Amino acid sequence: MEELSALEKKLLIALRGTEGGPGIEVETLVDGKTFSSIQEVMNAASWLKTRDLVEISEKAVRFVGLGAEGKRYLEEGLPERQLFEVCKREGKIGMAEAKELLGESFGIALMHLKNAGAVVDGGTIKLPAGEVGEIEAKIREREEFLKVLAEMKEETILDRNLLNYLLKRKNVLAVKEKVVRKLALTENGAAVAAGISAIEEEVSQLTPELIQTGKWRDTKLRKYDVTRYAPRVYGGREHPLNQIASQVRKIFLSMGFTEIDYGIVQNAFWNMDALFVPQDHPARDMQDTFYLAFPEKMAVENEEWVEAVKQMHENGGDTGSEGWGYRWSRDEAEKTLLRTHTTVNTIRFLAEHPDEDAKVFSIARVFRNENVDATHLPEFMQIEGIVVEEGASLAMLIGVLREFYKRIGFPNVRFHPSYFPFTEPSLEVYTVLDGKTLELGGAGIFRPEVTAPFGVKKRVLAWGLGLERLAMLKYGFESLPEIYSNRLEVLRRPYAAKFWR
Ligand code: DAH
Repeated sequence: MEELSALEKKLLIALRGTEGGPGIEVETLVDGKTFSSIQEVMNAASWLKTRDLVEISEKAVRFVGLGAEGKRYLEEGLPERQLFEVCKREGKIGMAEAKELLGESFGIALMHLKNAGAVVDGGTIKLPAGEVGEIEAKIREREEFLKVLAEMKEETILDRNLLNYLLKRKNVLAVKEKVVRKLALTENGAAVAAGISAIEEEVSQLTPELIQTGKWRDTKLRKYDVTRYAPRVYGGREHPLNQIASQVRKIFLSMGFTEIDYGIVQNAFWNMDALFVPQDHPARDMQDTFYLAFPEKMAVENEEWVEAVKQMHENGGDTGSEGWGYRWSRDEAEKTLLRTHTTVNTIRFLAEHPDEDAKVFSIARVFRNENVDATHLPEFMQIEGIVVEEGASLAMLIGVLREFYKRIGFPNVRFHPSYFPFTEPSLEVYTVLDGKTLELGGAGIFRPEVTAPFGVKKRVLAWGLGLERLAMLKYGFESLPEIYSNRLEVLRRPYAAKFWR
């Protein structure tokens, strides 16, 4: 009882005695005193309904009145009446003659006179002998019906057949639909309503005024029931993929890394050649890489870099490596493409900062010519990074990656040997979930064939990790496409992180 507002109590009182019956129409409760508007009543009613104290019934009711034609017929008579009268004198009339007499309304008049019993025979409209009275009675019925409608009271009962007939005539009747809402007490409601004695005015919202003046001391404050149902409100929030990207960014920044990015459009030189990916490598194929038509070529910034990379591919330069042993093509290297991995960011950074110790990372979009399925998208995000330091070791690389995954919430990552053209040794980072192995990314130490052409002498620890995978596992997405579907019901649901063992 204490949780009920003054308005709700008033409504319960107003509804006393309605239990078990059809209820009271909402409009009749709005008297300008107890209730000032329909909204006010419905507000109270819907809250009382959630507490099972009031029942709300809604019924769509059709109201029938005269339409524009109907009103005219009421004054001027039905068109079939006019035709009937001219027919009646002779018992018949020629079509042409009738048409002339009635003008525009002839067609309608004939149709409805026939419906009343007239027949057309050899160009003549006839009222069959002996049926004239009956035909007239039918027309009169219609005329009476229009009169009844014009003066209709609520309790008027209409003839259904006539009603349906006239409803078919265009604009004769007008129909309005209205929803009639009725309220009645439930059994519970009746019991509660019986127990209400006095209604104290109460306040449901504290105002600065009430507090400052001290009036709150003498005010009855309405109690809240915090366990009551309330509609869920969805506030705006960052897209899950952006959220996880922010978290990744924060973690690397807090670990002392700096963010870099060199843009989506690159040439093959940076995306592949500089990373010691041979020019006949299958990943360079149009099936895997999106090459660009405009611009078709992009020159390399520095001829010394071109020469050094060419030597590296052809014979290994002075690193002691044999290189790949083929004739390197500048044409192939200058082809433009959408970067296929973000390792392009770290190699460009290295070329520009060959002597520095460095810890840099990027979180950026890459593109591959893939068909979309649960685990593949033609564009996706990679988390890339390097540590450049004199004594850097594989153990350090594993340590950095473990630390990163631990901070993002995956304590259980593992590593096994792998292969990439630009690292030696190479690692694959993976995790095991529900007995299934999930690849998270690649890592390794850049080969001398990668670092030497740019004059980098220190060790470079490197990694490239998937971002969508993290979002999938962390937020319970079922597939990569689902992350990008932006379906509201997916974005709104609470994030169900899978359990990590
Ligand atoms: N670039 C690789 C890819 O896209 C991932 C990768 C592997 C990046 C090893 C690295 C690395 O930096 O060291 O599949």
